[in-house]
Amino acid sequence: MIFTRTKNLKGSITVPGDKSISHRAVMFGALAEGLTEVEGFLPGADCLSTIDCFRRMGISIEEQDAARLLIHGKGLHGLKKPADILDTGNSGTTTRLISGILSGQDFETTLTGDASIQKRPMGRIIEPLSLMGASIESLKGNGCAPLRIQGHPLHGIHYTTKVASAQVKSAILLAGLYGDCPTLVTEPALSRNHTELMLRSFGAKVRTEGTTASIEPEPQLSGQKIRVPGDISSAAYFLAAGCITPGSELLIQNVGINPTRDGILRVLNGMGADITILPTDNHDGEPVADLLVRTSHLQGCVLEGELIPALIDEIPVIAVIACFASGTTVIRDAAELKVKESNRIDVMAENLSAMGAHITPTEDGMIIEGGYPLHGAVIDSHLDHRIAMSFAVAGLNADGETEIRGAECVNISYPGFYTDLGYLHS
Ligand code: S3P
Repeated sequence: MIFTRTKNLKGSITVPGDKSISHRAVMFGALAEGLTEVEGFLPGADCLSTIDCFRRMGISIEEQDAARLLIHGKGLHGLKKPADILDTGNSGTTTRLISGILSGQDFETTLTGDASIQKRPMGRIIEPLSLMGASIESLKGNGCAPLRIQGHPLHGIHYTTKVASAQVKSAILLAGLYGDCPTLVTEPALSRNHTELMLRSFGAKVRTEGTTASIEPEPQLSGQKIRVPGDISSAAYFLAAGCITPGSELLIQNVGINPTRDGILRVLNGMGADITILPTDNHDGEPVADLLVRTSHLQGCVLEGELIPALIDEIPVIAVIACFASGTTVIRDAAELKVKESNRIDVMAENLSAMGAHITPTEDGMIIEGGYPLHGAVIDSHLDHRIAMSFAVAGLNADGETEIRGAECVNISYPGFYTDLGYLHS
């Protein structure tokens, strides 16, 4: 894909469904009794991996159209041993959350994913799930997938996580459904809480107090109607494009603005962005809004501490935005970026430097001096969807041609991204 400088991005856009919520709708629908209807499902490759895994465990999932699913749940003990290895593709959420579920089954499963998944740390779930009584082996002995999981009757635990990770928290809470007493998870900072909210709506007894979430075992989960809001992580590229592209005004409709996910709105507000939040809806504790964004004069900022989990997936595009702000932007406490779909600290530094940005990678983030114009370059996406989309936005605001290699990886979370971006040009 090749991008050149543009201006005057105008129009309205509805981004696809939230990836985190879409995964959970399939998983919890499979574990519930009866029918779960999902509207606004994200048909991205990651969520299709989740569907595939549950079909292989005997769950019937009808795709009425790409965004509407009917899931015929079979209850907490209704999954069957898959005939083959489960393939979680590129999806960390599928890998980690399913591991929590598989820990409580009375069969053995092996799961693995693509080259990126096979490098991502799984010790963070192996440790707590093993403490609960599951037998989990990293088949290459490196703490990564492939994983062989033999489920057992589990014990409830109170586990304190080292990192604020919703995937780790959710894996433990899901295993807690199969425990012999309540399970509690305390995190260093609050990560996204979609699991807690949605499990509660399915009938689980989930409580939260500060950064501790707890769950009681063996509830009767019942099928639900789930309306998935648009993904704020996908909206982020249009927020960025709207802010930095001259003469722009964009309305991004139906975006989930859960406070554990809205860090980008808080940061852009602090940088001086012209964004109006127009609330529209609230389902099961998931607030939704339309976002109106106009070209803005931005100031650099500091991103750190408890804010980081609320915008962890948006940091690549925030780094692009920072190049167009005056002054310095400092991002710290974000070492987790190194273990995402790619090492996002190194990959952002490599690619933004190639475009002429002044960026210094650090151990737990990066420092960007804004105000230096970007020029086109050949960008290696490292097959990381969020890198490809971030550099599409950068390329629209750079001199010359920006060529993105491996651009099709956007299908992981946003099939149709380039088409949607193209509509805003005319
Ligand atoms: C996700 C949690 C985050 C996020 C990922 C989706 C989820 O990962 O980066 O894209 O759906 O729970 P961590 O839990 O590893 O921080």
